[in-house]
Amino acid sequence: MCGIVGYIGHREAYPVIIKGLRRLEYRGYDSAGVVLFDGNDLKLSKTKGKVADLEEKSQKEISVSGNIGIGHTRWATHGVPNDVNSHPHYSNSGNLAIVHNGIIENYEPLKKELIARGYVFHSDTDTEVLVNLIEDVKKKDNLKLGKAVQIALNQVVGAYAIAVFDKERPNEIVAARLGSPLAIGIGKDEFFIASDASPFIEYTSNAIYLEDEEMAIIRLHKPMKIRKIKDDSLVDPYVQELQMNLEQIEKGGYDHFMLKEIYEQPAVIKDTYRGRLHANEGLIKMAGIEDNLQKFLNANRILIVACGTSWHAGLVAEYIFEEFARIPVEVEYASEFRYRNPIIHENDVVIAISQSGETADTLAAIKLAKEHGAFVFGVCNVVGSSISRETHAGAYTHAGPEIGVASTKAFTTQITVLTLIALRLAQAKGTLTNSDFHRYLQELELIPEKVQQALETNDVAKDIAAIYKDAPNCLYLGRGYNFPVALEGALKLKEISYIHAEGYPAAEMKHGPIALIDEQMPVVVIAQKQEHYDKIVSNIQEIKSRSGKIIAVVTEGDTQVRALADHVIEIPKTVDALSPLLTTIPLQLLSYHIAVMRECNVDQPRNLAKSVTVE
Ligand code: F6R
Repeated sequence: MCGIVGYIGHREAYPVIIKGLRRLEYRGYDSAGVVLFDGNDLKLSKTKGKVADLEEKSQKEISVSGNIGIGHTRWATHGVPNDVNSHPHYSNSGNLAIVHNGIIENYEPLKKELIARGYVFHSDTDTEVLVNLIEDVKKKDNLKLGKAVQIALNQVVGAYAIAVFDKERPNEIVAARLGSPLAIGIGKDEFFIASDASPFIEYTSNAIYLEDEEMAIIRLHKPMKIRKIKDDSLVDPYVQELQMNLEQIEKGGYDHFMLKEIYEQPAVIKDTYRGRLHANEGLIKMAGIEDNLQKFLNANRILIVACGTSWHAGLVAEYIFEEFARIPVEVEYASEFRYRNPIIHENDVVIAISQSGETADTLAAIKLAKEHGAFVFGVCNVVGSSISRETHAGAYTHAGPEIGVASTKAFTTQITVLTLIALRLAQAKGTLTNSDFHRYLQELELIPEKVQQALETNDVAKDIAAIYKDAPNCLYLGRGYNFPVALEGALKLKEISYIHAEGYPAAEMKHGPIALIDEQMPVVVIAQKQEHYDKIVSNIQEIKSRSGKIIAVVTEGDTQVRALADHVIEIPKTVDALSPLLTTIPLQLLSYHIAVMRECNVDQPRNLAKSVTVE
């Protein structure tokens, strides 16, 4: 995790870096720092806290001028968040400065060796070890920065994206990556370095994404060189034209990114199926699926690997794939899958789901599946991300940048893509009747409009939030397709409002959680008028007879649950399989309003980061 920004060119570096760090705060926000070169010397300012704290402190502490600089926003791994552990870090001579995203796993033996050679350490970080290792290598053979970085990185085990500056070579920044993303923006006589392209989108739309084990030597007025870290070979850089625009990464009048992203769902679900879903012709066109159709059709089973909210989307997909295409599906936490010696066959299809495309556990699960010969298909949101490159084929969600740390539109667009895939496979296998197949296509096309209607529950959700904002606990119950939505609803509440919440299949309640129910316990029940409706009504009765407070998400026109529940949130009717796309909306809104009323930092909840590039 952590965000990196670097600039070298003709502009003042400081505003570019500060604005860029703000955009990268989703990657971590427990401390921040910047170092600038003013033509003579390095000027460093860093602090525990957010980029806003850094801005305040740095303007008092240093003169913020200079055309070269690097900055960092941190999510602590080694060493608590404090001023000293914040990046950038200097080498012992004070000549080198570094910012780093990732973990140097062998930092302890390296640190011991460096201490034995007289190096002194001020912080608890692995990063300070790396910058001194570079300095040590550089001094020993009087090397240029690029060469020293390369030799040092070959001694390192772990993951990194780094930017290093040497005040003895003031027209140059060296950047490198292994396992953590790094983009280089190319302007006219200027370069930007960042963990993603958002910090430089208003300056240039040309970018190079470094591949793993590549380093860039970025020099003013000279062509940039990209080399392989292992063997020093030169790489021909591929310059991409960025699709992102500035509006997409700004709040656009909403109080929080999360709220903006909740409200974007009708549009981004449509963007995700546009060009793929042709309801009138009864067609689904997805290149990644068509090119690999036989692999899916021959698959003994589909394994889905993901983490967090993406794992919940995988659980919804399990129900949909099995129902539509009659292919057995197993959904695994990527973190468990990668370490438990799983049985993977050559004719397994593995689907990896990830918004960021950078989640370390998911990436490792993909590599493992590939080693066993499985075909791996990615469902990612971030174009060009590590997972999208590591998988054999894939389909992007078109959610646009998701900046709020709590995932919202990524979830619904992931379900959209997975539904399209399941429908295409069902068509190829003939596992759905013609009329059901067409009905699903038509219903999917209506989903954006119905999500728009579901968003009209905002005021009701807000009123309910005001009643329960101080509850210490909350239960979420759902059945079938809406069991994963219960898990997702609980995750949203706990991560942004810090209220303890659990999601359960409604019928599991009587096997334990029912003991928790009393008049203090709010229970959110997804009670759609669909298969097993009677069963969920019985579950609601069970809660009611124990005086639990029932917040029910019902289908419009419902009367039976309304008569039992303390509060109802009505959403439009759709087919059962697509209902998660609607039921999840009021749960997102409920969590959002509770968090706002509790004065929590909605977009940047404590201890979290958007892109989890460490294990
Ligand atoms: C929850 C949330 C996380 C992510 C998880 C996986 O709101 O955002 O649980 O879903 O860290 O991230 P991706 O999808 O980027 O692999």
